[in-house]
Amino acid sequence: MSGQVEKLKVLVESMTSDSLRVDQSLRSDPDPRGELPRLQAGEPRVIAVTSGKGGVGKSNFTLNTAISLGLSGTRVAILDADLGLANIDTLLGVAPRYNLLDLVRGDVGLDEVVITGPGNIRIIPGGSGIPELARLSEAELARIMTFITQLESETDILMLDTGAGLGPGVMGFLKAVRDIIVVVTPEPTSITDAYAMIKAVYSENPGAEIGLVVNMARDGAEGRQVAEKLGLVAQRFIGRKPRFAGYIPTDTLVRRAVMRQEPFIVAYPQSEAARCIRAIARSLVPPGDPAFPASRVGVPGAVRPREGLAGFLRRILGSF
Ligand SMILES: Nc1ncnc2c1ncn2[C@@H]1O[C@H](COP(=O)(O)OP(=O)(O)OP(=O)(O)O)[C@@H](O)[C@H]1O
Ligand SMILES: [Mg+2]
Repeated sequence: MSGQVEKLKVLVESMTSDSLRVDQSLRSDPDPRGELPRLQAGEPRVIAVTSGKGGVGKSNFTLNTAISLGLSGTRVAILDADLGLANIDTLLGVAPRYNLLDLVRGDVGLDEVVITGPGNIRIIPGGSGIPELARLSEAELARIMTFITQLESETDILMLDTGAGLGPGVMGFLKAVRDIIVVVTPEPTSITDAYAMIKAVYSENPGAEIGLVVNMARDGAEGRQVAEKLGLVAQRFIGRKPRFAGYIPTDTLVRRAVMRQEPFIVAYPQSEAARCIRAIARSLVPPGDPAFPASRVGVPGAVRPREGLAGFLRRILGSF
């Protein structure tokens, strides 16, 4: 283990000193179209957003991307899955009365738990009790499945905002999801932690499709460079590399929006960060994808997935 850490340190030093030449054959322009798993009509896609290091912008990315997709007609739900530290609601400036656990306990119904945000996105606040979901009775499980099926018929994309790091809670989600976005910043500590996360995901979940979002980059060139270099290291030591899903620059308006408890895509739609979020959101749902609004015409809920969200949750609950 420590040998690997040493190796990584050397790699990161070589990355930051620019001595590592980027192989042009490993170009990672944000063109995920050919790589994202395609959905059957009616099957919601689940996208988990995670990171190695904390505080890199996962929750802001999740919320603003969801709103951007929602504003263009995709039906998005967010499950705030950051165990114990759920804060999507804080970014939105709302204080939810109930969370998923209240739903499971049967105290309240789905309508009372779900918060609707800009772009008609729906948020299921996680609260701090999600680990307790591991101890559900059959009756409670059946109850949540009913609610989830209800939500499913109205959802194209379910985004999970997970916590950071390699803890069992986070990995439980990441093992169950195919589409994973790892948020990373250009800081060496974030890069090494992102590498460790990517390695863990590929090893625990070989079918995973990882997209890298480089947040707090100076500009697009730096964003691409971080993704290329991380991709090069991953290719060399893991034999696979995540695709580059896009970048978001450091933007003072992001912090200002957080302070105002408003999503920046709503508070500052003309900001550079909002523009980049829209570009990433567009690439996540290319025209022709069943989650693309025009593709849904005539098929809403027509084909129910074999597994769907209920099966997905069953897998998650079984993995804690
Ligand atoms: N593009 C950006 N430009 C400027 N500041 C940013 C940007 N993205 C995030 N931040 C700052 O970083 C802070 C942390 O962001 P956020 O809460 O989204 O991170 P996180 O990865 O979800 O954190 P945690 O691991 O604690 O859940 C924000 O409150 C904001 O001040
Ligand atoms: Mg967060």
